[in-house]
Amino acid sequence: ANQVLFKNPNEPPLVFSWFPVVGSTITYGMDPPRFFRENRAKYGDIFTFILLGKKTTVYVGCAGNDFILNGKAKDVCAEEIYTVLTTPVFGKDVVYDCPNSKLMEQKKFMKIALTTQAFQSYVPIIADEVSSYFKKSADFKGKSGIVNMPPKMAQITIFTASHSLQGKEIRHKFDETLADLYHDLDMGFNPVNFMLHWAPLPWNNRRDHAQRTIAKIYMDTIKERRAAGKSDAQDMMWHLMNSTYKNGTPVPDHEIAHMMIALLMAGQHSSSSTSSWIMLWLAARPDIMEELYREQVEVLGADLPPLQYEDLAKLPLNQAIIKETLRLHAPIHSIMRAVKQPMPVPGTKYVIPPSHVLLSAGGVTATDPAFFPEPDTWEPHRWDKDSPIAPGWCKGAASPYLPFGAGRHRCIGEQFANVQLQTITAMVVREFKFRNVDGSNKVIGTDYASLFSRPLEPANIHWEKRDE
Ligand code: HEM
Repeated sequence: ANQVLFKNPNEPPLVFSWFPVVGSTITYGMDPPRFFRENRAKYGDIFTFILLGKKTTVYVGCAGNDFILNGKAKDVCAEEIYTVLTTPVFGKDVVYDCPNSKLMEQKKFMKIALTTQAFQSYVPIIADEVSSYFKKSADFKGKSGIVNMPPKMAQITIFTASHSLQGKEIRHKFDETLADLYHDLDMGFNPVNFMLHWAPLPWNNRRDHAQRTIAKIYMDTIKERRAAGKSDAQDMMWHLMNSTYKNGTPVPDHEIAHMMIALLMAGQHSSSSTSSWIMLWLAARPDIMEELYREQVEVLGADLPPLQYEDLAKLPLNQAIIKETLRLHAPIHSIMRAVKQPMPVPGTKYVIPPSHVLLSAGGVTATDPAFFPEPDTWEPHRWDKDSPIAPGWCKGAASPYLPFGAGRHRCIGEQFANVQLQTITAMVVREFKFRNVDGSNKVIGTDYASLFSRPLEPANIHWEKRDE
């Protein structure tokens, strides 16, 4: 009743809940897309709910995407929300453990490193990692079999990303200690840590030990490289070693190390989840997998020569697979910002007060039938004519399709992720025919229990080697 009596008419409607502090945390956490859809139907595009004791205002739709993601630095703040989780994992002085202006410079360094020349060198590295993975893996011995795909894709993602972005020294260390260390570090991304980040929880001790050890591995590698002199490597680490902040300070080694961790963690969760969904959809739609194979044969020739960066642009269906999979399965379903000063919402009576957190959920427009007919169907051919963008579609942060975010925090890894995922998909299609174990054309449900959504497991598929 208090909620009704003291309700400020300028605040958005509050989603009802029986529980004071917990609020809607549970219903939201179990299935965020469903929570957004149901409350949008009830309250409209703007509504507030209680998430871990905090008034959290969701604003969906194109105007909402723009309002939050294009928010000015004086109005909205990302680091205030994310730092408790990310600083112990990445380390100090990078990303959210520094002023936003410094993050902007760090993102620029990373973006500049991703040149066409860099991508040309990455595609053969990624393609080789994929084929040697399948040659070596005990789970892919013989002519056919059944395998739980997501753990395989997690390994392929980390091998391909570390080798291309961080160089072969770091890649080799994944065969030794780095894989286990990153596994421990990853426990820091447990959503429980949003509340208990300070607690001496057992996984947090392992997290902290892993962070220090991994950072030291990178810093030692940087020292070795400096001692060895010039390199023709195209990787990100080398580029950061030669970058200087606007104030004239070269990027310190510990910051390079911490950015390497941040890159690998950011890229790992999102790309490995996406590549898993791609494989599961190929198993659900063997007809599309065949089409992809024919596309490569037609464009590149029946002998399928080693894949090059330039080939990727000639394979539109292969590209559409990534776009369509991210439309349905964007791994980041909620983007949050702390509100710094009262924010009037244009065209409404609402003013969002500084006590609120704003939540952007781009997946709502990406699955809205107003923009994508039959939105729940995975149909890569909807991207055939370049994009299904209808005339009324807005651009930039107001686009209904934003798997990589928008505005000042927009992803710098989009191009890399596309190159990585397209190369992995093309190589898998060359090697295998997939189908669902039960022959159906469905995929498994989504696991929302960690920060990045991913397929529930086991997610088994049936594979068969293509005849040579
Ligand atoms: C930011 C998605 C891959 C590095 C973001 C954001 C999204 C996103 C939605 C915005 C977050 C926010 O506004 O709070 C994805 C998806 C990926 C992917 C769907 C793959 C399918 C990568 C990769 C890298 C990367 C491979 C590194 C090479 C970053 C960085 C930011 C970012 C540095 C900036 C964070 C900030 O400015 O606050 N990504 N990402 N991402 N991503 Fe990605």
